Amino acid sequence: MTTNTLSLSDYNITVGDFQEALTESLQKGDYSQVFILVDENTREHCLPLLLQRVPTLKEAKVIEIQSGEIHKNIQTCQYIWSELLKAQADRNALMLNLGGGVIGDMGGFAAAAYKRGIHFIQIPTTLLAQVDASIGGKLGIDFDNLKNVIGFFQNPQAVLIDPIFLKTLPARQIRNGFAEIIKHALIADVDYFNDLLTINRANIEGVDWSDIIMRSLQIKKAVVEADPFEKGWRKILNFGHTVGHAIESFSLTHDSDPLLHGEAIILGMIAELKLSMQISDFPEDDFQQINAFLRQLYAEYVVDSANVEAVMNYLQNDKKHKGKQLNFTLLEKIGKPVINQYLKKEDIVKSF
Ligand SMILES: NC(=O)c1ccc[n+]([C@@H]2O[C@H](COP(=O)([O-])OP(=O)(O)OC[C@H]3O[C@@H](n4cnc5c(N)ncnc54)[C@H](O)[C@@H]3O)[C@@H](O)[C@H]2O)c1
Repeated sequence: MTTNTLSLSDYNITVGDFQEALTESLQKGDYSQVFILVDENTREHCLPLLLQRVPTLKEAKVIEIQSGEIHKNIQTCQYIWSELLKAQADRNALMLNLGGGVIGDMGGFAAAAYKRGIHFIQIPTTLLAQVDASIGGKLGIDFDNLKNVIGFFQNPQAVLIDPIFLKTLPARQIRNGFAEIIKHALIADVDYFNDLLTINRANIEGVDWSDIIMRSLQIKKAVVEADPFEKGWRKILNFGHTVGHAIESFSLTHDSDPLLHGEAIILGMIAELKLSMQISDFPEDDFQQINAFLRQLYAEYVVDSANVEAVMNYLQNDKKHKGKQLNFTLLEKIGKPVINQYLKKEDIVKSF
């Protein structure tokens, strides 16, 4: 398999076989100790391949945490830090974060905070983490029922993306990651979006993701490099996320089988495209095409009209808003986003 490299200001992302890049990083880094952060799923499905391809890692200490967003918290970080202390990790230690966005965000956060920062390499193993969470330097944990409110921006030593890990990922998790890919296309590139239209619910598990991952990373790279700390243009990545986060928070606290992040973002994108038609003249034909595409992929998810008011309450607590006005990224057309669209609650209710 060929490996492609994307160079960012202070680190590289490779897409393809991780073996060579990881071996080289380990040699160059001359780390005092190596830790591998996993959850029970990545321990079972991903760790064996890592150890097989890079046998020197058999010496590394594995730290296992429980999977799931509910464990992305300070208690889990305390456990990680106590394991690092127990092993007498010094500042020249390395943490390999082998897992989805939860492992990447929290493992990066824990590593960057321990002794004011040890080295870390992201090895994302879900589609969502490979196309989105692993790039952009955002690290963090959830606190007080709010997602990602504690954290910071810091880049890893490297990001190694190998689609081979996706082979064991459940179909629902693949569709979850695909939601962010669709978002990248909608905010940046109509040709990319048209290419994605060939993917449907029946064939999504057989997709070869390498080129798609690279296209998405190139879009996200251009955006985060233009605005690393989300002062302005990076807000285009929030398309679908203002309503989507509110739906996700509502679902997390009300549903027995809550929506995944990407599933909530799909509903958020549909709502925000409706707002785009009203506010920024997004063409109705395009809306119909996108809506049909998203609906066949994510048919089972809807917001019950009885819950709209409750979802709205989550919306108003979002950290990005100014007073009673809510900040949206909308689209004028596919590939042409507009940021800082301040809307009132009455306008938004109609979009559900
Ligand atoms: N930092 C960012 O810019 C950014 C961007 C988007 C999302 N995120 C964060 O990412 C998180 C969501 O990430 P996620 O969707 O990857 O969820 P996740 O990390 O919870 O992983 C989803 C599930 O898949 C399992 N899994 C992981 N890899 C597997 C594999 N190869 N085979 C089988 N099972 C596997 C995990 O154990 C978990 O049960 C959220 O916390 C979100 O806030 C961060």
